[in-house]
Parts: sequence; structure tokens; C-alpha cells
Amino acid sequence: MQYSATYHFVGVTDMADAIEVITLVLELIWTLIRVHFENIRCIYRVFVPNEPKDIRGEITIKYVTLTSLKKNLAAGYTLADAIEVITLVLELIWTLIRVHFENIRCIYRVFVPNEPKDIRGEITIITGAGHGMGREMALRFGKLGAVVVCVDINPKGNEETVKIIKDNGGKAHRYECDVTDRAAVFNLAEKVKKEVGEVSILVNNAGIMPSQPILQWTEPKIKSTIDVNLTANLWMIQAFLPSMKERNHGHIVAMSSMAGLIGFKNLVPYCGTKFAVRGVMQALENELYEESNGKSKIKFTTICPYMVNTGLCKNPRIRFKDQMKMVEPGDAADQIIDAMRRDINEVTVPSNLHYSTRFFGYLIAPSAARIMNSFVDAGVEAHD
Ligand SMILES: NC(=O)c1ccc[n+]([C@@H]2O[C@H](COP(=O)([O-])OP(=O)(O)OC[C@H]3O[C@@H](n4cnc5c(N)ncnc54)[C@H](O)[C@@H]3O)[C@@H](O)[C@H]2O)c1
Repeated sequence: MQYSATYHFVGVTDMADAIEVITLVLELIWTLIRVHFENIRCIYRVFVPNEPKDIRGEITIKYVTLTSLKKNLAAGYTLADAIEVITLVLELIWTLIRVHFENIRCIYRVFVPNEPKDIRGEITIITGAGHGMGREMALRFGKLGAVVVCVDINPKGNEETVKIIKDNGGKAHRYECDVTDRAAVFNLAEKVKKEVGEVSILVNNAGIMPSQPILQWTEPKIKSTIDVNLTANLWMIQAFLPSMKERNHGHIVAMSSMAGLIGFKNLVPYCGTKFAVRGVMQALENELYEESNGKSKIKFTTICPYMVNTGLCKNPRIRFKDQMKMVEPGDAADQIIDAMRRDINEVTVPSNLHYSTRFFGYLIAPSAARIMNSFVDAGVEAHD
């Protein structure tokens, strides 16, 4: 049975359906009770922590020695000290004013987003352009007048993408490259600069997603997942960021995932890479902000898609199939490009998952979020 709202409220016609709906409601109530209990337990534990456990005889593979930090307080204040304190207080007040202003600006932008920017003529490089969301994004960038540089390890898919863009009157170039190979990526950057021009939009999209319980992930599988999903992003950034910095113009888009916001069964290394992609993007944005004294105009957009129907996610498990449908790659690409053109920093696809993931990720206790996640029961079964 699929749980459509209409079905619940109008179409419950026989006893079996009614029992199923009642069971579901009871399960939801039980889940919410456990979520609240878990939350209260965790709040209680903040004030009354567990007793330290006895670790005598435990085999310890790593330990950290904490050194206490002792500050020597100055015995007396001089005029210079007073000036320093006043300056610090003024700086703090000014920082708080700017923080509040920025918060209000961001809340305003939730309701009134930026107008989509014009990307005609922008040289846009997309990794993994030969299939799935990469291809769909490439086609849309082409339609919007960008010069698309399609990069993929798979020549056939890449060639097809370029052909479709050109057939539709767009401008596209193709380069075959394994983006996990740093030397090949730097070679690619040189060639693109010479043959096409300066890249101003980088979309780090290529990714792979094996799915197994952690003990069944082989060493090559773990290494290649980290290489494609994470390390390759860093090579592309190192190769293409310098010219963006020189011109103080550019936009970097990265594909994280729902699995970069919530940890999922069977996807331990994959989740590691997708959480890391968000970390890389945040750290890079902060680095450019600090380096440039807040004057950097290079933008960042991190995308966290739910399951997208590209074949990457070979064995999806979706309990509420009507409410949590797989997203079609074209729809995902529309949402990604819209977010990028409006300079949105991080989006989920679909966008309505943004607040639920924030709620489960940050506002309730992790153990309570786990109870809720088991109820929603969406994830990926094991596959190669
Ligand atoms: N499909 C989903 O459900 C989903 C959900 C969340 C996030 N994502 C992420 O979105 C991105 C795109 O996913 P997709 O479903 O469109 O994938 P896809 O499998 O349809 O396409 C990925 C493309 O990347 C290319 N590629 C793989 N390794 C490469 C390498 N080393 N060098 C160059 N190209 C390489 C492949 O040849 C392929 O054309 C990935 O980063 C993925 O992790 C996907």
C-alpha cells in the first residue's frame, strides 16, 4: 500500500486499509512519544551526566591527554590596557550589529530570493557531464547561453551530452579525464584555458555510490569513493580557483547529498565523503572571505539531493513512496541551476527537505532523530 493523503482521508474503503492506517497512526504516535522521551533524557543528561565508567583493563588504542589551560591574569591595569578593552568592546558591538544585519538579510532572502543571474558566455566546467544530473545540468547551462565544458571519464556519454547541447544551438566542448588523477586535472585546466578560455563556473558533480554494510566495503571501494567524491573536488578547486581569484569572479557548485546531512546505513564511507564536501565548501568560502577581508566575489553553492532517478542509487528503500518520490534528474538540474543562479549557499533537492533535515540534524537529540529516521525509513539497500 502507498500512503497518499487522498487515500488516507477519502479512499479508506475496507477493513484492511483502515487497520493499516490505524497501525500507521499508532506507530507515528509511539515514535513521537519516544522522540520526546529521548529528547528529555538527553536534556536531563546535559545537567546530570552519566557516572564516568570504569575503564580499568580496557584495551585503549588511542588516548588524548588534556592539558589544562591556565591564564595568568594581569595584576594591575594600565591606560593601554583600558584602551585595548574599550576597542575590543566596540569591535564586539560592531560585530554583533553586522551579525544581526546579516541574519535579517538572510531571512529576508528566504522570502525574496535574489533574481537569477545571467550566465550567458560564462565558461562552465562540469565533471561527470556524461550522465545523470551532470548531463541534465550541462544541457540547461547550454540553453542558458553558457559555454559548457563537459568532463567525464566515460567518452561515449560525454560525447552524447556535447552533441545534444550543440544540436540545440549551444556551445560545448568535451574533455575525457579521470578527475581523481591530479596531474590529469591540471593538464585539463591548461588545455581548457588555451582552447576555451577562463573558467568561471565549476560544478564538481562526478560521484560514485557503492552501498554495503561497512565491514563489506573493500579497500579499493573505500579509496575510490573518497577519491571520486571528495579528493577530485579538491584537485578541480586547486586547478580552477586561481583564475577565479585573479579576476575575483566565479562560482563553485558541489554535489553533496542528503547523505551529507544525515548518516545512512550501508553508506558509511559515502556519507563521510558527502559530509566532507560540505566541510570543504564551507572552509573554502571562509578562507576566501578572510583572505580578501570580505571582498571576495566568488560564490558557493552546495547541493544536497535526496534520491534522484539516475541509476546511481540502485536499490532505494522508500517507505512513503507517494510523499517521498525519487526526483527526476531533469527536475533536480532545474533546481540546482536555479539555486546557483540565485547565489543560494546550500540547498536540498527537493527544497522542502531543508527544514526537516535541520530539525532532525540540529534541533533534536541524535538518538531522538534516529527514532524518527527509523519511522520515515528511507535509505539505500546494499548494492555494488
Ligand atoms: N542520484 C542520486 O540519488 C544522488 C543523490 C544525492 C547526491 N548525488 C550526487 O550527485 C552527483 C551526480 O550523481 P548522478 O546520480 O547524476 O550520477 P551518475 O552516475 O548518473 O553520473 C555520474 C557521472 O560521473 C562520471 N564519473 C564517475 N567517476 C568519474 C571520474 N573519476 N572522473 C570523471 N567522471 C567520473 C560517470 O562516468 C558519470 O557520467 C554525485 O556526486 C552523487 O554522489 C546523487
